[in-house]
Amino acid sequence: MKHVLLLLTLCCSLTAVAQTPVWQDASQPTELRIDDALSRMTLAEKVALCHAWGKFYSGGVPRLGIPGLWMSDGPHGVRAEIDWNEWKTAGWTTDSCTAFPSLTCLAATWNPAMAERYGRAIGEEAVYRGKQVLLGPGVNIYRTPLNGRNFEYMGEDPVLAATMCVPYIQGVQSQGVACCVKHFALNNQELNRWSINVECSERALRELYLPAFRAAVQKGKVWSLMGSYNKFRGTHCSHNDYLLNQILKQEWGFDGAVVSDWDATHNAREAALGGLDIEMGTSQRPDKGIKGGQFTWDECYLGNDLLKAVQSGEVTEEVLDDKARRVLRLIFRTALNPHRQTGNQDYAAHSQVAREIACEGIVLLQNRKPTPLPLTVKEGSSHSILVVGDNAVKRLTEGGGSSELKAQHETSVLAAMQQEYGERVQWAQGYLPECNDYSREHGVDQRVTDSLQQQAVEMAGKADVVIYVGGLNKDKFQDTEDADRKQYDLPFGQPELIEALARVNRNIVVVLLSGNAVAMPWADKVGAIVQAWYPGSETGPAVVDVLTGRVNPSGRLPFSIPVKLDDCAAHSFGTDAYPGDGKTVTYKEDVLVGYRWHDTKKIPARFAFGHGLSYTTFEYGKMQAEWQGKELVVSVPVKNTGKVAGKEVVQLYVGEDHPTVVRPAKELKAFEKVLLQPGETKTVSLRLTPSDDFAYYDETSRSWQANRGSYTLSVGRSSADIRQKLRFKY
Ligand code: GLC
Repeated sequence: MKHVLLLLTLCCSLTAVAQTPVWQDASQPTELRIDDALSRMTLAEKVALCHAWGKFYSGGVPRLGIPGLWMSDGPHGVRAEIDWNEWKTAGWTTDSCTAFPSLTCLAATWNPAMAERYGRAIGEEAVYRGKQVLLGPGVNIYRTPLNGRNFEYMGEDPVLAATMCVPYIQGVQSQGVACCVKHFALNNQELNRWSINVECSERALRELYLPAFRAAVQKGKVWSLMGSYNKFRGTHCSHNDYLLNQILKQEWGFDGAVVSDWDATHNAREAALGGLDIEMGTSQRPDKGIKGGQFTWDECYLGNDLLKAVQSGEVTEEVLDDKARRVLRLIFRTALNPHRQTGNQDYAAHSQVAREIACEGIVLLQNRKPTPLPLTVKEGSSHSILVVGDNAVKRLTEGGGSSELKAQHETSVLAAMQQEYGERVQWAQGYLPECNDYSREHGVDQRVTDSLQQQAVEMAGKADVVIYVGGLNKDKFQDTEDADRKQYDLPFGQPELIEALARVNRNIVVVLLSGNAVAMPWADKVGAIVQAWYPGSETGPAVVDVLTGRVNPSGRLPFSIPVKLDDCAAHSFGTDAYPGDGKTVTYKEDVLVGYRWHDTKKIPARFAFGHGLSYTTFEYGKMQAEWQGKELVVSVPVKNTGKVAGKEVVQLYVGEDHPTVVRPAKELKAFEKVLLQPGETKTVSLRLTPSDDFAYYDETSRSWQANRGSYTLSVGRSSADIRQKLRFKY
């Protein structure tokens, strides 16, 4: 009897195993699971995978039990829940997040280890919130200081952006959440972003605008990528055959899914054949006279139209299968990933990560007497401190567009200063931001502005030290999506206010909370200038850590700060080069963006790419270069010659001495951040692969070309502060 029972049990379990579909068997290889799932799907089900079924949800296969994809903004934290079908928040009470520093701040750390920690922490919150795709990081190159979204990106240099985005992606995806690197490609302005057509040379495309995306794909193994709104060479980037099929998928071997930006799909045939895999955000079909109210999700360009095109043979089932396979791969890497973590919403731990990253990203631009930072306010002294500025209290984790956050907390600079110095701290608003349509249109009441300024100046005249906290504020035209800045100057009368404060108190520190370079005509009139970005939940504590010297600043600029806007490459070729004529913008500066322009045209920036001061000093010894196999290893001893520990960012630039094409005077090719105790020396070794690192993109042969000949290797602490040079014959 027992044997019979055993035999029966065995048969049942074998039958059960036989019936478990391969795609459900987590022990099977992912590609086998995809093949099995695909083989069980109808045409309609394959099409349903390729478009949205909600504002931030795309299709699965309900009949088989294959889940869809929940997506969420953004690069700096997991956005509050949005209503299924409406552009409004869903009003949950459990969707507050840790607001991490803006990605420009992360880039300013020049510390890839920080990027991995950042990605891991934000990934933990994303997976805990049930997300499969985190819509970030953004890696578009900083071409003009007027671009409203530069704060979401990683600066003007492709090597810095590439080096910093890869560990971020690896950190997020280690949790079983996909990154969606964006916005591919050439989305370098917000003005007319929905339709502007970008024209640029193949060299500029390959040498500047694509490398960070290529690194995200080939080194970061990113699982999804977002096509941008703009056009490139006449075709919308969210279904641009050259960018998505030829470069991204064929040349680079991208095996993930291409997601459109929201409402960035405009043509059914191009969407079907131009490399798009998941259409998001479409809300109407003007080509069919279907308006918002009548629109249903299967009316997407990749909905019924795609189904009909495959049924008629206009689009082969092979093309559809490739899309479906990529979407299934994204689902199996996330929702059905057996190694997907549980994540957490450990605000305390994540806030600590955010604070450390913010501290490492803050850049000390200037530190002149009589305001030597760090602050030396003696315990118990009657030292009075005046904090001035609306940004000292404003919540800057809000605003800015889709990267906005419902932060679980945000500690302001004023709160942190009061926490640190108690009653000795006073505050004056100083200026009134234009924060509604009327005030944006007509300016704020000048009498209010004057009285705020007068009050601040009076108080400043009586204070021992003034901490000015201004900058931009992620309101419209002030670092936000879908609108570029209208001026290079600080807004809201800040320049006049800073000068007025400096006239009555030379002991003034200017702290800028912003994501872009600004004009600083007042720089010579103030003591210290601190570029503090948008540090997120821990804004105040991070700024105070640096001002008090608890943290020795080690941030370095990820972009140049020109003296005036006309010194910037994109603003040196008339309106065709920026913002364009409303239809087309032409990148006339070609490969000479940022410091590449300043160096080559010998136009000094006010503060250079890679610049950042420390509370200690560093000395560079003699650099050497030697072959190790195919690599060229450049070594340089660096000594901390000051009295406090500090981190130095050793930067290595390469320039071809006699180029056969126009090339930048030098280009960043490697860097390393190193901690040095007082008096300590470390030899930093930076590795180059000359066949790659010396190469430019040759448009004739459509290939990378590293000419034989003489090169100059430059090592320094910024693009304008080179400490060692070496001629090298390649
Ligand atoms: C926006 C942005 C994109 C964002 C998406 C969803 O328009 O361009 O970065 O992820 O829509 O909010």
